[in-house]
Amino acid sequence: MTRTVLTGIKPTGTPHLGNLLGAIRPALRLASDPSLQALYFIADYHALTTVHDRAEMSRLTHEVAATWLAMGLDPERVLFYRQSDVPETFELAWILACFTPKGWMNKAHAYKAKTAENEAAGNPDLDAGIHMGLFGYPILMAADILLFDADLVPVGEDQKQHVEIARDIAQRVNHTFGGHLLKLPSALIDAGTAVIPGRDGRKMSKSYDNVIPLFAPPNQLRKLINAIVTDSSPPGAPKDPASSVVFKIFEQFATPEATLALRQRYAEGISWGDAKAALFEVLEPELAGPRERYQALIADPARIDALLAIGRDRARAVARPVIDRLRAAIGIAR
Ligand code: TRP
Repeated sequence: MTRTVLTGIKPTGTPHLGNLLGAIRPALRLASDPSLQALYFIADYHALTTVHDRAEMSRLTHEVAATWLAMGLDPERVLFYRQSDVPETFELAWILACFTPKGWMNKAHAYKAKTAENEAAGNPDLDAGIHMGLFGYPILMAADILLFDADLVPVGEDQKQHVEIARDIAQRVNHTFGGHLLKLPSALIDAGTAVIPGRDGRKMSKSYDNVIPLFAPPNQLRKLINAIVTDSSPPGAPKDPASSVVFKIFEQFATPEATLALRQRYAEGISWGDAKAALFEVLEPELAGPRERYQALIADPARIDALLAIGRDRARAVARPVIDRLRAAIGIAR
């Protein structure tokens, strides 16, 4: 029996090495499992909760699509589409909203974080600056998931609560109308997923402005690697791999043998300049091919759109019967 694995990719920043290790690689590995059907989509309407600039929205959407394709997503195998192209999602979102206790949304992490910010700032209006898109975010995400009878939803720890909410809403609907109208999804949190540090040693993240973008040209890649923090130990002094950002990134991309060899050089007092050169030498060949494919795609947005349109048609064909079955159960048949 084929199980369905589904995840959404929010286009909010230029993809970087942390995204590759934390999300893209694990998802592509799952997609190649013959017992799974993968649905991966660009959650552009989720991005709309924060991205309110036309050019930016369009650029980020194309960038993220081109990134996944360049990294090896096979659009024949994976249903790869834009959330906004599947209007059934928004129909389902409304249905689900009518079964979602408001209190559940009050407790969602992203919303609570915003009200906490207002409270910390001494603002008597805890809801200041919060729109309904942010408040209802988990409902839209539940619709993304439940619309495709997804079994598994690979997400980071921060999204686990959202998948649980999706499950709880599905249970409410099932309880109300009987039977197994909606399939209950499970979050898939890969404990082995690597978190890599950014240039300053904190977790690599757009919000810390410490990322190494995936498709920087080689000279810029070299510059960014040279900007990684190190301690002040001079060439010749033995260095500790465990506290070295350069080493931690290196070991995610190198073979075990190459990692062992670098460890040895650290013990022998490699200079930071040489350690950084070694990191460049391991990253560059890994990224050169994808970079070329990425550039070709970005230069041809019509091709990206055409691939996403194929995914859209296939996705809608799966979604329609789910909506129909739900409408029939509710008493709003077409
Ligand atoms: N909220 C997710 C994030 O911020 C993106 C997302 C939207 C998603 N819809 C989804 C993830 C459905 C999994 C399933 O990363």
